[in-house]
Amino acid sequence: MSFDLNSLLRENIKALVPYSSARDEFHGEAKVYLDANENSIGSPLLKWYNRYPDPQQQKIKEKLSAIKGVSPKQIFIGNGSDECIDLLYRAFCNPGVDNVIICPPTYGMYEVSANINDIELRKAPLLDDFQLNLAHMETLVDERTKLIWICSPNNPTGNSINLADIEMVLNNFDGIVVVDEAYINFSRQRSLVTLLADYPNLVVMQTLSKAWGLAGLRLGMAFASEEIINVYNKIKPPYNISEAVQELVVKALDNVEDVNEMIKELVKERKRLETELPKLAVVEKVYPSDANFLLVKVVDARGIYEYLLANQIVVRDRSKVLLCEGSLRITVGTAKENDELLNALQKFIV
Ligand SMILES: Cc1ncc(COP(=O)(O)O)c(C=O)c1O
Repeated sequence: MSFDLNSLLRENIKALVPYSSARDEFHGEAKVYLDANENSIGSPLLKWYNRYPDPQQQKIKEKLSAIKGVSPKQIFIGNGSDECIDLLYRAFCNPGVDNVIICPPTYGMYEVSANINDIELRKAPLLDDFQLNLAHMETLVDERTKLIWICSPNNPTGNSINLADIEMVLNNFDGIVVVDEAYINFSRQRSLVTLLADYPNLVVMQTLSKAWGLAGLRLGMAFASEEIINVYNKIKPPYNISEAVQELVVKALDNVEDVNEMIKELVKERKRLETELPKLAVVEKVYPSDANFLLVKVVDARGIYEYLLANQIVVRDRSKVLLCEGSLRITVGTAKENDELLNALQKFIV
């Protein structure tokens, strides 16, 4: 394999002179800051937010580095994973020229972001067991294929993608392989961050929106080689993570123990739902899950979706999605919420 980052990059990105913010140019402590046109008097809040935040989010990266075992220089922080996704298109894919491969059914933003950026999307649907169709993927790759998106554990099917298959793609594709590990904390499979040193074409994405319980803060992460992270840094909006979010995330990252407790509890509840749901008359199949949700095949997906809504329980109707026909995607809730779900489903007249 011959991976060459420079040849993958768009010409305009190679030539780009990045925005240089006031805080990029000056490092250290000064007495008077008159460089960034901030409001020097203060903020209309008890705590002041009148200064621009750290553009490189160093404190967050240091803590993440310790937790994930990845150098801070190999971490990019985005305004949600969605920003990490969009920036990869902007860096590597020429609109109307390049293409990317996705493996449906999968997370919808890879496609939406491709459409926003006017990038051709090629689809290699998963096999019936929700694993990669490597032979089909191979036929789709050409010299204009820049990215392959793999979601593991996959949304909405919940399964992890076989590690050996992901490595097969990494070993045989000269473009960038993005592995979205949004649900990795709930998985029995290990993270691919441990393979970053082996694969210069690997980008691993994670998020604080799931196991970490911080979806409202919007914080996504991409782990990759320093060269790829430098590309991210070159094109990102200068202050993409607010000061308030940086402060809260730095605090949250001290509480790994609490997060591990929540993960344990959610996995326990997932197992309970995996046992209890198949006992119900409405349920035809519960697919195995490595995530905090279950794909559940039911007798009348639309009818049950609407019935649950009428009972003030919102789930996701995936019945029109390829390979998910007749299925609902149900997030694992608290024990009480899961009881309410099971009770409501029990009462549904088939
Ligand atoms: C696979 C996957 N990736 C990314 C995201 C979004 O993550 P974020 O909240 O960090 O934008 C989701 C959200 O549902 C997801 O399912």
